[in-house]
Amino acid sequence: MKVIKNTLQMQKIALKHLKDGDEIGLVPTMGALHEGHISLIAKSVKNDDITIVSIFVNPTQFGPNEDYLKYPRPSEKDKEICKKNHVDYVFMPLVNDVFPSDYKTFVEVKTLQDILCGAFRPNHFRGVATVVAKLFNISCADRAYFGMKDFQQLKIVEKMAKDLNFRTKIVPCSIARERNGLALSSRNSYLSVDEKKMSMNISRILREAAKDFRCRNFNSVKKDALDKLKKIPGSKIDYAEIVNFDDLSPTDKNTKKAVFTVAIWIGKTRLIDNVVMIKSRRRVRK
Ligand code: PAF
Repeated sequence: MKVIKNTLQMQKIALKHLKDGDEIGLVPTMGALHEGHISLIAKSVKNDDITIVSIFVNPTQFGPNEDYLKYPRPSEKDKEICKKNHVDYVFMPLVNDVFPSDYKTFVEVKTLQDILCGAFRPNHFRGVATVVAKLFNISCADRAYFGMKDFQQLKIVEKMAKDLNFRTKIVPCSIARERNGLALSSRNSYLSVDEKKMSMNISRILREAAKDFRCRNFNSVKKDALDKLKKIPGSKIDYAEIVNFDDLSPTDKNTKKAVFTVAIWIGKTRLIDNVVMIKSRRRVRK
C-alpha cells in the first residue's frame, strides 16, 4: 500500500493505471475509519483492480461554528486499517494542495443542496460536491462508493456526476450499524455512554416507522415517529422528513418508495440516520 500526499502525483498514478486498463475504485472519506468505511473498501477491493481511499477532512463542508478542528484525525490507525483491508493507495492531501489560497471554483447542486441538512448547514453540500468532483478528477475513478447513511449527500453526488458527465459510477452502499442499531459514524466518538444509549432509539423508531408505512398513510406514520423521537431524553430535532427515494422531493399519496430521514442532536452531537420505506400493495388502512 502506498500513501500519496500530493494531488498531482495521485492523478499521475491514477492515469497510469487507467492507461494500463485497470479499473479504479475510490472510497472518499474524512478518516476516523470504522466498519462502515471498511464495508465500502471491501466492495471496491472486490469490484475494482485498484482501490484508492481518500482521507481528507474537507474544510469547505464545515460551517464556521461546526466541528472542523475537533473532527477526529487518527491517521496512523486509519493507514493500518487501509493496509489490513488491501487498499492500494491512501490519498491524504494537505488542505492547501486541494484548496490553495487562490482557489475560486465551486460546484452547486441547486435545490437538492438547500433542503433537509442543507437548510441547517448552509454551504455544506457545496463543499461536499466540490471536493467530490475534485476527488473524481484526481483519482480517475471508474466507481466511487458512498454510504446510504448520508442519503442526501449520495443523491447530490449522483446528480452532480450525471449533470457534469463524470464517467465515475456511483455505488450506493447500505448503512453499517452497531448491533444495537445505531448507524456507524465517525461522530459517534463524541457521544457519552448515556448519550449512546439514547441514540440507539433513533434507528428503532425509524425501523418501526418503515414497518408502519407499508400499510399506513405517511403523515400519520411521521407524526407517531416524531412524537417518539421528541421523547428521547436530551434530543433536539433539526428535521424528520419523509421524502421521495429518487429525488428527495415531497411525498404524496402515490409515493411507493420513500426515505424517512432525520437529523437529531443528542446533547452536543448531531446525528443523521434514515430508513427506506416501501409501500405495500395491500390496501391502506383508514
Ligand atoms: O461522507 C464524507 O465522509 C464526506 O462528506 C466526503 C464524501 C468524503 C466528502 O468530504
